[in-house]
Amino acid sequence: MTEAKKLFIKTYGCQMNVYDSERMEESLQGYERTDTPEDADLILLNTCHIREKAAEKVYSELGRFKHLKAERPDLRIGVAGCVAQAEGAEIMRRQPLVDLVVGPQSYHRLPQLEARARAGEKALDTDFPEEDKFEKLKRRPKAKRGPTAFLTVQEGCDKFCAFCVVPYTRGAEVSRPATRILEEARDLVERGVREITLLGQNVNAYHGQGADGREWSLARLIWALSEIDGLARIRFTTSHPNDMDEDLIEAHGSCSKLMPYLHLPVQAGSDKILKRMNRSHTAESYLKLIDRLRAARPDLHLSGDFIVGFPEETEEDFQATMDIVRAAGYGSAFSFKYSTRPGTPAAERDQLSEEVKDDRLRRLQALLTEQQRAVQDSMVGREVSVLVEKPGRFEGQMVGKSEYLHAVHFDAAGHVPGDLVRMRITASGPNSLSGEALQLA
Ligand code: SAH
Ligand code: SF4
Ligand code: F3S
Repeated sequence: MTEAKKLFIKTYGCQMNVYDSERMEESLQGYERTDTPEDADLILLNTCHIREKAAEKVYSELGRFKHLKAERPDLRIGVAGCVAQAEGAEIMRRQPLVDLVVGPQSYHRLPQLEARARAGEKALDTDFPEEDKFEKLKRRPKAKRGPTAFLTVQEGCDKFCAFCVVPYTRGAEVSRPATRILEEARDLVERGVREITLLGQNVNAYHGQGADGREWSLARLIWALSEIDGLARIRFTTSHPNDMDEDLIEAHGSCSKLMPYLHLPVQAGSDKILKRMNRSHTAESYLKLIDRLRAARPDLHLSGDFIVGFPEETEEDFQATMDIVRAAGYGSAFSFKYSTRPGTPAAERDQLSEEVKDDRLRRLQALLTEQQRAVQDSMVGREVSVLVEKPGRFEGQMVGKSEYLHAVHFDAAGHVPGDLVRMRITASGPNSLSGEALQLA
């Protein structure tokens, strides 16, 4: 038997990239993963193009591999993900040590590309082929896994928010057939998974073909998944406010396996800015939606994304963002300075200064941190269920996640990863909660 070659993958960006990295690794037969680039025969950077900084990181990281390539001429270096899609052959021009460039829609062709790169060619594929790449990506024989997993159900986006590269890097919205998703979910559960997070750039726009031949919504898919024995928890991300249909709102109230946590980005609170962002919802319609969701599931934890410093954002517009944060109340949040992205409509407009953007980001983050803190502290004394994930930072400790996605540390005694444990929260620390298992009668 020939010795396995070694693969080093570094993943940037969103959870969809994490899922893709897993699938790429599995598809490369004859490779096993290594955590050190120095040992690798193939280095793959799975990149993100969402903000300028994210894209620039790729080039600085590639520069660091120069000495490795000089020492080991057999090393191959590849760039996958959204930078690969956006920049294509330009990457090889700018950094000649790159042998392989593969866009997110072509991962099923990675083994052939790898073979070409190994033979000394420059291999590039940034097509948007018609075929269903996930069905063509090879799986490895069943291996045990940890208790949580991602599962991509939908890819791409047709929304074209004026700031965003995703519709260009990931292409048009496509939903995977429900039968395939159910098969994959059952397989994950057989490997030990107890919680699945369904992924999509616009996951609640899901409209895949169902087992009955009809089109299924995300809610329908969630109900079908909830019938899998052994699967304890279902989550989904990222949702768009315009695609939260009645069935999905209702499922938050009635599907016990669907967790009470929702990432629902609003981006900004001023209707003028929302319109210029091409978001097609208003601050008021968003807040009404939150009300309906909380009516269905009063303890729902809300998470969001925000952009400050979008072109033409005035101080008054920014205050509207602060207002919507106060009105909606977030248990967690991600906030960013607007970053001009090549090829997007907003990049052509007059830009605000970095000073203004920095100042607004600082103020917004102070408010969001305060809210997150208050929500986390309010958990003390409450009963939650924790899915045990892995040993904690200290000896004798385990860590897992509550329904609300808070990390909870507790005494490891008698608990193993994959257990669901009822706990009382005893304290709230800087980044996590502490809990005590409840004695079951
Ligand atoms: N599909 C999701 C998220 C896409 S990207 C959605 O529609 O909400 C994740 C987040 O990155 C976005 O929600 C947005 O807040 C942020 N983002 C996207 N483009 C950006 C840009 N050009 N500058 C700053 N932040 C950006
Ligand atoms: Fe980007 Fe908007 Fe699509 Fe989200 S909905 S991926 S922010 S274009
Ligand atoms: Fe980044 Fe592409 Fe995800 S741009 S956020 S890796 S879809």
